[in-house]
Amino acid sequence: MPGKIPKYFINDLLSRTNIIELINARITLKKQGKNYKTNCPFHHDKTPSFTVSYEKQFYYCFGCNAHGNAIDFLINYDHLNFIESIEELAITNGLTIPFQNKIKNEYFQKEKIYSLMKKISKLYQKNTLLTDSSKKYIKNRGINQEMIDFFSIGFIDKNWNDFSKKFNISEKFQQELIKNEILSITPKGYIYNRFYERIIFPIHNKHGNIIGFGGRALHNITPKYINSPETDIFHKGKEIYGLYQVKKKCLKPEYLLVVEGYIDVITLTQYNINYVVSLLGTATTKEQIKILFCTTNIIIYCYDGDLAGINAAWRALKIALPYISETKILKFILLPNNEDPDTIIRKEGYNHFNNRIKNAMTMSQFFFQNILKNVNLYSIDDKFYFSKYALPLIDKITNDTVRIYFRQILARKIGILDDNQFNKFLYETENTKKQDYQFKIKRTPMRVLIGLLIQNPSLAQIVPKKLNFNNIKIKGLPIFLEILKTCIKFPNLNTGQLLELYRDQKIINIFKMLAKWDHMIAPKEIKTMFLDLLININNKILQKRQEYLISQERITGLTINEKKEVWSINQSLSKKTQYD
Ligand code: UTP
Ligand code: MN
Repeated sequence: MPGKIPKYFINDLLSRTNIIELINARITLKKQGKNYKTNCPFHHDKTPSFTVSYEKQFYYCFGCNAHGNAIDFLINYDHLNFIESIEELAITNGLTIPFQNKIKNEYFQKEKIYSLMKKISKLYQKNTLLTDSSKKYIKNRGINQEMIDFFSIGFIDKNWNDFSKKFNISEKFQQELIKNEILSITPKGYIYNRFYERIIFPIHNKHGNIIGFGGRALHNITPKYINSPETDIFHKGKEIYGLYQVKKKCLKPEYLLVVEGYIDVITLTQYNINYVVSLLGTATTKEQIKILFCTTNIIIYCYDGDLAGINAAWRALKIALPYISETKILKFILLPNNEDPDTIIRKEGYNHFNNRIKNAMTMSQFFFQNILKNVNLYSIDDKFYFSKYALPLIDKITNDTVRIYFRQILARKIGILDDNQFNKFLYETENTKKQDYQFKIKRTPMRVLIGLLIQNPSLAQIVPKKLNFNNIKIKGLPIFLEILKTCIKFPNLNTGQLLELYRDQKIINIFKMLAKWDHMIAPKEIKTMFLDLLININNKILQKRQEYLISQERITGLTINEKKEVWSINQSLSKKTQYD
C-alpha cells in the first residue's frame, strides 16, 4: 500500500504531527531528561522502558524492541492498517488525503464490496425463515428469532435459481455478485453459490462491515463448515467471529470467552453470556491475541477436553506468552469429552455453566498440567528434559513478574530447595536474557556514522562539499550516501520522517535498528564525532588511492595529472592531524 499516497503528503503529515501528543492521548507519558517515558504498552513491563523522543519523532522500547514513528504507533497500538493510520493523522490535522488514482479506486472498490455483502446477507437472512428446511434446522438447534436477527443468520437454497427467483434478483445485481466472487460460475455457465444449502453466519469486521461468511451444511456432509476464501478484505487469521456483536453490548467486557464454533457463540449469547467469540476454526494467531487483549483483560479459552481441544488451547497459550502480564491473563475451561458449549449449556443451564467460567483454570495451572503430562518427576532424566522444555517457553513471557512466578513454580516442581541454588536458577538465565534484549550492534566507524545521521538528519548540512565518495567501495558507504542524499534533498527532516520515506524498502530494517541504537555519544560531542568519522573515512580513501598511485609510479610511471593528484593527496593527508 505505501507509495500510493504521495510521499510528500505523508511527510507533511508527519511534520505536523507531534508524536508526544499522539501517544500521550492514549497512554500517559512522563518527561525524563530530553525524552518521554512510560511502561511499554506492547509488553507490559514494570519499569518504564518505553521511550519517546520529541526530536526524533520516534519511539522505542528497550524491553521488547517495539519502535517506530507516529504511523507505526497507530498501526501497532490502534490496530489500524497503513492507510487507516494516515487517515487518522489526516483527520487530526484537518487535511484530506490526496489519494493517487489507483488507491482511490481500491478504496471505493472496498466500500462497494461491503455494500454488496450487506445487501446479499440481508436476503440470506430473510430466506432463513422463508424456507422450510432451514426453518426446521434452526428450530432443531434451538436458535431463537432474537439470535437470528442479532447474528444476521441466513440460508441459501440448493439452487441459485430458486433463491434468485424468490428475491427477484436482477441481472445487474447477479453480475456484480459474480464479479466479486460471491457467486461462482462453471465453464458451462452454470451459476452457483459456494454456500448452497448451508446456514450462513456473516462475519463482521470491527466497523460492522460484513467481510466474509461461514456456512454450515444442513445435512451431515463434509466439510461440515466452510468459510469465504481469503480476499483483500477477509483475512481469517485476523478476524474474530462475534466480537462486533460483543462490542455492541459492551465496549470493554470484563472477559472474553473464546469457543470453537459459530453455534457455540450463538447459543451462549442466547443464554445471556454476552462476551463470547470464536476464531473461525483456525489456530489462534498473535494478531487475534492482540485484538482480544485490546478489548479485555481476561481471555478464557473454552475448548473441548479431547486431545484436539487441549492441543488447540495449548497452542493458543504458547502464542499468547509474550502478551500476558499481571493484568492481561488467559484462563482455560476444558469441557467433558464430546461436549461443546452449545450442548453443555443446554444440558446443565446457565448457572452450572457460569460456575465453569468462575472456576476456570489459571494459565499457570494449565501450563504445568499440560507440560507435566508424561513426565515422571521422580526421574532425574525426566526432570532435566522437563525443565529444558519448559524454560524456553517460560522465557517467552516478557512480563517480569509473571515470568519469575512461572520459574518459581518450575523450580519447586523439579525440587530445587536450597535457597542459593533457587535464586541462581531464578535469576541466572534472567540476566543473560536482559543482555539479549540490548541490541548488539557491532560498533564500526561506518555504523556510527550512519547511526548518527539517521538520528540527527540535520548533520547532513555540515558534510563538507569537497568530500568525494563516489565510486569507492567501502562497506556501508552506499547506505550512508543514500541517507545523505535524502537528508540534503529534504532539509529539516526528523528521524521519524526520514524512516517513513523507506517504509516499503528492505533497507528499512537496518535503518530502524540504527535509529534506536544507543551509541553512547554525548549530545554535545555528536557534531565533532560525526565530522571526525567523515574525515577518517575520507583519509582512508585517500590513502588507498595514494598507495595505488605510488605502486603505479614504479611500474609505468605517472601522468602529469596523476602526479598533481599525489601532491594534492599528500597535502590533504598532512592536514588530518588536527582531527587525529
Ligand atoms: P466443530 O466440528 O466442533 O463443530 O467445529 P461445531 O461448532 O460443534 O458445529 P455443530 O455444532 O456441529 O454445528 C468447530 C468450528 O470449527 C470450524 C468451524 O468454524 C466450526 O464452527 N470447522 C469445523 C470448519 O471450519 N470446518 C469443518 O469442517 C468443521
Ligand atoms: Mn457443536
